Amino acid sequence: MSGRKMVSIVGSGNWGSAIAMIIGKNTAKSTHFDPKVKMWVYEEIINGRKLTDIINTDHENVKYLPGHKLPENVIAVPDIVEASDGADILVFVLPHQFIGPLCDKMKNNVKDNAIGISLIKGIDEGPDGLKLISHIIHEKLGIEMSVLMGANIAKEVADEKFCETTIGSKNKTHGEIFKNLMQTPNFRINVVEECDTVELCGALKNIVAVGAGFCDGLNFGDNTKAAVIRLGLMEMVAFAKFFSEGPVTSATFLESCGIADLITTCYGGRNRRVAEAFARTGKSIEELEKEMLNGQKLQGPQTSAEVHKLLKQKNLVNNFPLFAAVYEICYECRPVGDFVTCLQNHPEHQ
Ligand SMILES: NC(=O)c1ccc[n+]([C@@H]2O[C@H](COP(=O)([O-])OP(=O)(O)OC[C@H]3O[C@@H](n4cnc5c(N)ncnc54)[C@H](O)[C@@H]3O)[C@@H](O)[C@H]2O)c1
Repeated sequence: MSGRKMVSIVGSGNWGSAIAMIIGKNTAKSTHFDPKVKMWVYEEIINGRKLTDIINTDHENVKYLPGHKLPENVIAVPDIVEASDGADILVFVLPHQFIGPLCDKMKNNVKDNAIGISLIKGIDEGPDGLKLISHIIHEKLGIEMSVLMGANIAKEVADEKFCETTIGSKNKTHGEIFKNLMQTPNFRINVVEECDTVELCGALKNIVAVGAGFCDGLNFGDNTKAAVIRLGLMEMVAFAKFFSEGPVTSATFLESCGIADLITTCYGGRNRRVAEAFARTGKSIEELEKEMLNGQKLQGPQTSAEVHKLLKQKNLVNNFPLFAAVYEICYECRPVGDFVTCLQNHPEHQ
């Protein structure tokens, strides 16, 4: 890659729009990147207007990040092929359930030497078992992938409140390119090599957050929630060791993508909020997602189902009682009041 690198953002939800604010501002003042950034937007009609038209004239994603201006050099494009055309750098940031079909549409049009980074927190269940989202993108598009995960609630990042994040990249040069693209004084980035562990942290913490939400909905206190976070972290480490082909070291769990993201998600995130409402109201997860999230997607329950399938196949469900309880409560009618038993009988306490 030489000259100014062209960046495309694939996705434009809550996090997609917040990162577009950062990327747009950084490319506008950098000599390394083309200032114009195309952002793929899943077209929707809002009050009779196309969302892409609203973004391109009012410079605001009124549905997914209202109240924040997007830089004018970020251009909304409804067609994925056009949005990614000519990109040297692809930033993937959309709910994980949509990634496969989207990559299929892009695949004949991606530059050979393009590189990608996934900000997507989730894991996918394919015919050959579980797959990391960055691996799916790599297989479908043939590009080298890095990941970015951290304690980054989108609205707070958009408000430019200080936070940290982690880039996982096997390729140091790529890690530095992505850091230059996204770092700001209030969004500080550490680059580590253990990218699969970074990505697994981002996916698995959402399961623990559902447990934290149950705990809040059942009126347990902060001590119980701390136990959910700690036991959840132990299961995240154990799952990463069992699942990952590469090295898994404790140091990675001490980065923003590990313990910091877990704490944020268990106090502030949407998975916690919906799970709390689930315990309080008895409504289904699907109903609450529709009622409470205005088109945003939940990741925790679905990730628990994907993880559960693999653990069942490998006869390991009993080693992951917290993950199992979240799955059984969300999908198998196990009473939510039972949640605390998975903590009481945890193998950590035997
Ligand atoms: N929101 C956050 O605070 C945050 C922070 C860090 C990471 N993440 C992760 O970033 C990823 C993207 O989340 P988000 O918050 O930007 O999205 P979101 O949940 O706010 O928005 C949903 C997005 O999906 C799009 N969409 C709806 N139907 C679609 C379809 N059929 N096909 C394709 N797209 C469709 C919508 O247009 C919208 O852009 C997720 O993996 C999430 O876990 C989110």
